[in-house]
Amino acid sequence: MTSTTGEALNLEKVIPNAEDFLPLNGTDYVELYVGNAKQAAHYYKTAFGFQSVAFSGLETGNKDQVSYVLQQDKIRLVLTSPLTPDSPINEHIVKHGDGVKVVALWVDDATKSWEETTKRGAKSYMKPQRMEDDHGHIIRSGIHTYGETVHIFIERKNYDGPFMPGFRKWESDYNPAPTGLRYVDHMVGNVGWGEMNKWVEFYARVMGFAQLMSFDDKDISTEYTALMSKVMSNGNGRIKFPINEPAEGKKKSQIEEYIDFYHDSGVQHIAVATNNIIETVIDLRNRGVEFLRVPDIYYDTVLDRVGEIDEELEPLKELGILIDRDDEGYLLQIFTKPVVDRPTMFFEIIQRKGAKSFGKGNFKALFEAIEREQESRGTL
Ligand SMILES: [Fe+2]
Repeated sequence: MTSTTGEALNLEKVIPNAEDFLPLNGTDYVELYVGNAKQAAHYYKTAFGFQSVAFSGLETGNKDQVSYVLQQDKIRLVLTSPLTPDSPINEHIVKHGDGVKVVALWVDDATKSWEETTKRGAKSYMKPQRMEDDHGHIIRSGIHTYGETVHIFIERKNYDGPFMPGFRKWESDYNPAPTGLRYVDHMVGNVGWGEMNKWVEFYARVMGFAQLMSFDDKDISTEYTALMSKVMSNGNGRIKFPINEPAEGKKKSQIEEYIDFYHDSGVQHIAVATNNIIETVIDLRNRGVEFLRVPDIYYDTVLDRVGEIDEELEPLKELGILIDRDDEGYLLQIFTKPVVDRPTMFFEIIQRKGAKSFGKGNFKALFEAIEREQESRGTL
């Protein structure tokens, strides 16, 4: 089996407690429902360096909705807007603002994926369906997860078109260079008060995932705000879903703020990996991407906490890149400000140097930075 970039896939099981009934090859795509897909596509090309891949809309005979498919290495984004007032996509946008509707998972057998998950209690979103064109066929199926978010299983082994039937190649004269983003490292879901364990249990029972780690309000709290989080992973470690719920603090937590503005549970952030976070972040910043900043004082003591690192500290400090270490190595990470108007969805840029964790040591410094942003929005 080969990946979209032609590398051999290593699907070896690395998470011992995970079950094998739902083999996942990786994230196939992330679809956002947005108010204006054409302008959103321009933003993701210009600011993040995604490339034009495929298009569906009036020109392809699709009179209901328009979708732009963009890709950077293994990260595929689909941006979809309704074309008519009666499209159900409108309701999603009215309620949530722009946000993630679909976390699509790449599988070898979409029919079996649907059968195995629905028989374990998942609510069906889409029965297995075959779609074909001159490039072959795909099979897709889907289930509901938290909020109005869904997982679609995509089987594309018999398809060699640009994306899937119904789409045509998107040829554009405007092609900003990529910024070094490589693959989706993890995607975080924010769920409501007291719902974390319900969704942790969902990923364990319905999808065979195992829990990697957990954080509680003692790990993740500042003077004002707190949250709890558990990280779920599939067997080969390619799909990692941390699930957050708010915890009681003196003031409103960022998770609560998210739920208030998204009006539901939903995807909070998409973490994307790079091999060189310094170059990537310089590039993104020059293209207008805005990042959260921790106070400079963070850098006075960070090396005492994380030990020696390969990078010079000065550029990390200059850019506001955070550092954390676990038993297996260290990681570098930084978080964008929300990329939509509501204080909901954002991106994380991450470079792993052995560490398999998620930056727990940075949470406090980070949340204090987020609180300053909340303060300025009047939502703390
Ligand atoms: Fe993250």
